[in-house]
Amino acid sequence: MTDLFVARDLCKRFGGLQALRNVDVVQRAGETLGMIGPNGSGKTSFVNAVTGELALDSGTIDFAGRDITGVRPHKVARAGLARTFQAVRIFARLSVRDNLQTAMLVLDDAANSLEAEERVELLHWLKLDHRLDAVAGSLTLFEQRRLELAMRLMMRPQLIMLDEPVGGLAPGEIRAMMQILNELKARCSIFVIEHTMRVIRELADRVVVLITGEKIADGPPVDILKDQRVIEQYLGTAHA
Ligand SMILES: Nc1ncnc2c1ncn2[C@@H]1O[C@H](COP(=O)(O)OP(=O)(O)O)[C@@H](O)[C@H]1O
Ligand SMILES: [Mg+2]
Repeated sequence: MTDLFVARDLCKRFGGLQALRNVDVVQRAGETLGMIGPNGSGKTSFVNAVTGELALDSGTIDFAGRDITGVRPHKVARAGLARTFQAVRIFARLSVRDNLQTAMLVLDDAANSLEAEERVELLHWLKLDHRLDAVAGSLTLFEQRRLELAMRLMMRPQLIMLDEPVGGLAPGEIRAMMQILNELKARCSIFVIEHTMRVIRELADRVVVLITGEKIADGPPVDILKDQRVIEQYLGTAHA
């Protein structure tokens, strides 16, 4: 497998707080990579930095053989790197259909957006096809998360970064979302943030552990579960 995504030595400071400390993350094409860590450990900052929402103090990011360090979010998206947000970002007052239409506007002519029949198939898969006329703000959180995912998949990304995709969902919904994410692997590479090991264990080929902005472990979930430093600093605090 070739490297799809390479982040080197990422550093970001917010005043006196070091949110990212020399973080290195490599993801190979087709690999599902997880990132775990307690609240405030820098997981969202990492994705924000990679997708151009947050300016780094130092470090470099390569994606699909291209240097995307400092590239603006819409250009990162056009380059094939999509992301979803911990707090869902949709247009609450617009219909589901108009949300999807708006997502398409981000794309330029050269972008690799889905054909009409592929869009139909996507909406069927995400069980949104019967909700197209609904106002997005009236959807359940689970439906909103599926809508956000559909919006990002419109551009046929090579890699999608999901920030706590099961956050706030009920147990049955979590199982359904896990199935969606397992099926998503056939469409693109996945980078997934979670703060529970359970989700990562089921989804990820490899997992990176962040604690106070520092990567303290990187390996297959089975090894990470046995890692003494991870147990002492993270899993020991009842997140397992
Ligand atoms: N824009 C910001 N300005 C100042 N501090 C921030 C900002 N974004 C995040 N932080 C701080 O950086 C740390 C890491 O936050 P975050 O990346 O959201 O962690 P996580 O996603 O792992 O919970 C936290 O202490 C948070 O309060
Ligand atoms: Mg976060």
